[in-house]
Amino acid sequence: MKSALKIELGRRYRFSASHRLHTSQLSEEENCRVFGKCNNPHGHGHNYVVEVRMSGDVDPATGMIANLADLDAFVERQVLEDFDHKSLNEDVPAFRDKVPTTENLCMEIFQRLKSFPKAKLERIRVEETGNNSFEYAGDNLEGNVRDQTNGRNSVA
Ligand code: NI
Repeated sequence: MKSALKIELGRRYRFSASHRLHTSQLSEEENCRVFGKCNNPHGHGHNYVVEVRMSGDVDPATGMIANLADLDAFVERQVLEDFDHKSLNEDVPAFRDKVPTTENLCMEIFQRLKSFPKAKLERIRVEETGNNSFEYAGDNLEGNVRDQTNGRNSVA
């Protein structure tokens, strides 16, 4: 039975990181064609916005699902310390062999945050630019990565 006190919280975090969209599974020419200027060997940066959505029961004593200070510390340790002002390709092991698109970034962040002990991770939304954002809900929803891009082109 669904608890009447179940509620969702959302909290936004920001980090800056660089990436290069490139895969060893394609030739140089194909990489260039698929990723366009995002395939530039020197990479480029984004100011990412991550929205974390958690659900849980409201503790009758505190009136909260989880203490935001606990969530902040967890996100800092699990994600921001490893990603902020880093090269996603070179500094994050998950992207050594995986293209650091925002789709893959969403899934990586979800994996890193799903073990938060005080609430259930519902989904992760990552904004790469003002026009591009992606959501991932793990096993919580069908469809998983939902592309919310408006007019995505090769400038991601
Ligand atoms: Ni990009």
